[in-house]
Amino acid sequence: MHMRQSDHDHGPETVPVKIILENPEELNEDGSDTAVHELMAAKGEHLLEIAIEHGINIEHSCGGVCACSTCHIYIEEGMDMISEAEEEEEDRVEEAPGLQMNSRLACQCDIIGDGPIVFRVPSWNRNAVKEVPH
Ligand code: FES
Repeated sequence: MHMRQSDHDHGPETVPVKIILENPEELNEDGSDTAVHELMAAKGEHLLEIAIEHGINIEHSCGGVCACSTCHIYIEEGMDMISEAEEEEEDRVEEAPGLQMNSRLACQCDIIGDGPIVFRVPSWNRNAVKEVPH
């Protein structure tokens, strides 16, 4: 699926972003089932494209145009470092399984602050295309 790219001219990658993936294919040495990726991103990028650019496959059925809810993530830190949810996103995210107070759609979260930003990708998101009833 083609993915919408942010159309800003990005500056330098100065914003620290930590992505916590639940249920990676391999367990860690300590038996935990999350994988943590730490990377740097630029203001203006959205969280979905950052993940995809770094080889982290978050589902994005609609290609990042806020027409599905498969890119559902949890913001664990830095909610004020990303753009606020607009009404369209709020309506969509309510359809996502596992809704929480910190739920967002990754493709709608543009980085606006200096970070750090920490977000979690729930395990069911990673094959949501099969699991989400239509
Ligand atoms: S990819 Fe569809 S809403 Fe984000």
